[in-house]
Amino acid sequence: MINLRNIPDDKTSLDAYEVEHNFQSWSYQPTQSPLRVVSAKGVRFTTEDGRERLDFSSCFVSHNIGHQDPRVIEAITEQANTLCSFAPSMSTRPRALLAKMLAEVTPGDLSRSFISLGGTEANEAAVKICHQFTGRRKIVARYRSYHGGTATSMSLSAGDPRNWAQVLGGAELVRAPNPYCYRCATGQQYPNCNLYCVEHVDEIIELEGGGEKVAGIIVEPVTGAMGIIVPPPEYFPRLREICDKWGVLLIADEVMSGFGRTGKWFAVDHWDVVPDIMTMAKGLSGAYVPLGATIVRKHIGDRFQEQFFSHGATYAGHALACAAATAVIPIYQEDNLIENSEKMGTYLLEQAMELKDKHPSVGDVRGLGLFVGLELVKNKKTREPIKALNAKIKSGMNPKLEVAKKLGALGMMAMAANPGNVIAMAPALIVTKDEIDEGIGIMDKALEVADAYADK
Ligand SMILES: Cc1ncc(COP(=O)(O)O)c(C=O)c1O
Repeated sequence: MINLRNIPDDKTSLDAYEVEHNFQSWSYQPTQSPLRVVSAKGVRFTTEDGRERLDFSSCFVSHNIGHQDPRVIEAITEQANTLCSFAPSMSTRPRALLAKMLAEVTPGDLSRSFISLGGTEANEAAVKICHQFTGRRKIVARYRSYHGGTATSMSLSAGDPRNWAQVLGGAELVRAPNPYCYRCATGQQYPNCNLYCVEHVDEIIELEGGGEKVAGIIVEPVTGAMGIIVPPPEYFPRLREICDKWGVLLIADEVMSGFGRTGKWFAVDHWDVVPDIMTMAKGLSGAYVPLGATIVRKHIGDRFQEQFFSHGATYAGHALACAAATAVIPIYQEDNLIENSEKMGTYLLEQAMELKDKHPSVGDVRGLGLFVGLELVKNKKTREPIKALNAKIKSGMNPKLEVAKKLGALGMMAMAANPGNVIAMAPALIVTKDEIDEGIGIMDKALEVADAYADK
């Protein structure tokens, strides 16, 4: 074995280690090392070549408050100097404080949290709580969803090609449609559609055994990775009614849409709906330290005073991660970031609409807050997609990846590696009008690559 304190770390060596020793997520393994990031600040990051770039994705919609905020670094440092972590059977100050903060910022009587390490774990916990609380097995999950990479969360991620390579997960699953008005499953047009997408959920639950068999339904309030799908305003209140009718638990996966991303603390707040269980990660700690949480309504939490809570993890409620979150969450409030997301989001959407008018490859633009997507098409009139959904799991390039590559060459990162045909723009909530103009300018140039594939 080589001396582990003296491993060569020059550029060539690091490049070789990346290629030979790391797996990269959701991809054919690259034969060249990806660009190395050396620092980041606010909405920008710098790569090893010395070039400063614009982060218009907040790193998969996680760095909601921007990179390297000194207030968070100080809190992490202070906690690290005091107590990095301890067994989850004991309390720590940051874990207790974080649980209280989550009860404050989430809607209604959501009040008891299980604190984990990321979004997929938060959803695994949600499904287990749902099963334990109801004593039923079936979970309804919607097509065009992404709920995470571990076995159960991945199997919930219906219609995401990443799940096609999937082995079994731990839930008995039933599929439902997404409220995807641009490509309505029944070919209707909102508002003259009787909201079939949500009415059908009522029928699905009945057909699957109603309140005797169906435990819960999991939804992204604004679908993220699978295409920035914003539901019509009637959707969530009606879904809540349907869940109440059957005693089925409503699980809102706010991993991407939470913490100000859509211009409210949580996306469900747009429709004044209180889910039974809410999951979160990403913006929870602003991605400074890995963290996820599953929060439940009071009566669900109380049940586990009489019933064994059958879930846990060594790092549950990790002190360092909780300390980061307790520094991040007040920043949303103090710096008016939720309001900025709403204001800048409106501006970003307006600017994106102009891109749609200009580019033959942009078929639809939609979004809420700083969560805006451009759907690429081959033909605007027929809405023929610019690439097939399975392009994500085929090797080689496709038009959307070419746009992503062009964005990289122009010095910007957007969220373009996800499976659908949507390129998402989701800058940190601190973004300014000038930075949005800069990002839109770069996107405008990169879209020329997609236009080459589109019918004029
Ligand atoms: C809506 C949603 N849920 C869950 C996850 C999984 O989160 P993580 O990658 O932290 O496991 C993601 C990740 O992108 C997500 O977008």
